[in-house]
Amino acid sequence: MDILVNNAAIDPKVKGEQGVLESSRLEHFPLEQWDLQLAVGLTGAFLCSQVFGSAMARDGKGGVILNIASDLSVFSPDQRLYRRDGLADDKQPVKPVTYSVIKAGLIGLTRYLATYWAECGVRANALSPGGVFTGQSEEFVQRLTALIPLGRMASLDEYRAAVQFLCSDASAYLNGQNIVMDGGRCVW
Ligand SMILES: NC(=O)c1ccc[n+]([C@@H]2O[C@H](COP(=O)([O-])OP(=O)(O)OC[C@H]3O[C@@H](n4cnc5c(N)ncnc54)[C@H](O)[C@@H]3O)[C@@H](O)[C@H]2O)c1
Repeated sequence: MDILVNNAAIDPKVKGEQGVLESSRLEHFPLEQWDLQLAVGLTGAFLCSQVFGSAMARDGKGGVILNIASDLSVFSPDQRLYRRDGLADDKQPVKPVTYSVIKAGLIGLTRYLATYWAECGVRANALSPGGVFTGQSEEFVQRLTALIPLGRMASLDEYRAAVQFLCSDASAYLNGQNIVMDGGRCVW
């Protein structure tokens, strides 16, 4: 075992059914969804790190842990991006609180892991991607890209080289960092 990538996540898209829209709001956010999403996105990363990180530290060869976070690990969701015409303010869909909590939590886990097995040669870093274009509505894309200095969303293959870098010896001296790859959004 040389590389662990903690990538799994539940990212509930803002869907059209009224119930889903409303239940994304903090006031109504279901505890079961909180538990489920944290179980996958955060507890899952902890458990995989516990099992595979321990093995990497034990076998003497070291290894790499890469946590896939999000640009929302470093800033708050701009809920105006998700607004729908014709809905009252208290019915507007939002990016759920779980996403922010999980992704910020992964950065804490990354820093913890980066020091915990460092002497055994196990490094840990995070990659925080910005939004990938996968056919979202034109209105959403326009709103989002207006916030991104490069003026566009990422394409599907644009994180590959970063993952290769972070998982290989090319990044041998990088440890405990969160690489934010968001077209410059968080510096604007
Ligand atoms: N797509 C984006 O715009 C974007 C932006 C920023 C960050 N991210 C992050 O990048 C990662 C990948 O995103 P994606 O768009 O490919 O998402 P995705 O929903 O396509 O993939 C998530 C993966 O997690 C897996 N998964 C869900 N529940 C699981 C479980 N209980 N056990 C094991 N696996 C489980 C799914 O099967 C799926 O393969 C996620 O962590 C996501 O939060 C994505």
